[in-house]
Amino acid sequence: MVSVVITGRGGAGKTTMTSNLGAYFSKKGYRSLVVDGDLYLPKLAFHFGIYAPQYNIHTLLKNPEMRVIDAVYHDPRTGTDILPGSSKLYDVIDLDQKRLRDIVREIQSRYNITIIDSPVGIPFDTISTFRLAQYQLIIVEIERCPIYSVHRMIENEVIKLKSLGDAYGLKVGVVLNKVRESSSNVDDIIDFLEYSVDVPVVGVIPFDHRVPEATNYGRPVIDHAPHAKASKAIGESGEILDEWVFGEKRKKGLFSRLYDALASLLRGTNVSSLKKL
Ligand SMILES: Nc1ncnc2c1ncn2[C@@H]1O[C@H](COP(=O)(O)OP(=O)(O)OP(=O)(O)O)[C@@H](O)[C@H]1O
Ligand SMILES: [Mg+2]
Repeated sequence: MVSVVITGRGGAGKTTMTSNLGAYFSKKGYRSLVVDGDLYLPKLAFHFGIYAPQYNIHTLLKNPEMRVIDAVYHDPRTGTDILPGSSKLYDVIDLDQKRLRDIVREIQSRYNITIIDSPVGIPFDTISTFRLAQYQLIIVEIERCPIYSVHRMIENEVIKLKSLGDAYGLKVGVVLNKVRESSSNVDDIIDFLEYSVDVPVVGVIPFDHRVPEATNYGRPVIDHAPHAKASKAIGESGEILDEWVFGEKRKKGLFSRLYDALASLLRGTNVSSLKKL
């Protein structure tokens, strides 16, 4: 059971990567949960065609006695479970963000991997979950950054977010998104990140119009258009993450997996498909 917090600047592709990586892992047979930690502008559930969930993170934050599992939805096409946010304005007022950690703590043991989407910039809404996560991914949008100032942008943005992860003892990685640069420029950015900033690059996702198209259909792009160039790159990034996150565990062998399977069976993980919409 691992948890990954996704961070990055506004519009970099945090929510897109959360939904697609969640779908990637569930399609590979892992039990995967995606959590909308963008408490003021939640959009994660839209990527799974869920637009007005009756129960959600906000009802959980306001009703501590409610069971977290009752606000979890299942996407039958990818197998991903989703803990959505509320789309109603009055639900997002007057929240205790710190309780998000209790919510994630209650549910995460049912899953092999929990991926938490964060709000823009310094992730105040999800900071409480840094205490129980093991990994942080920083999504960096290359498209909007003039190449001559990319090093300054990285220093300003990636180093701040990375030091936050470092402070909580998380393993930090970067995904470059919306990439339209030449491969030599991308190589230069990767070198700078890996050697000067000391953070591994675990994905390079090209700019691809099929990504917003998929969201319009309420699907992760890897499900909507599996052969699109962004989908293939997300798959490659998923493979790297799989090795990063589960490689060590796999080495530990069969016993721990049998234990996980048994524990999940006893708990009864299954969530009925798109309930209560
Ligand atoms: N690889 C890509 N190619 C083209 N468009 C993309 C790509 N990744 C994301 N987008 C588009 O960029 C926009 C922002 O993406 P997304 O909502 O995932 O970013 P975000 O970081 O979660 O934004 P916010 O800070 O508002 O929460 C969306 O319209 C999305 O479809
Ligand atoms: Mg977002």
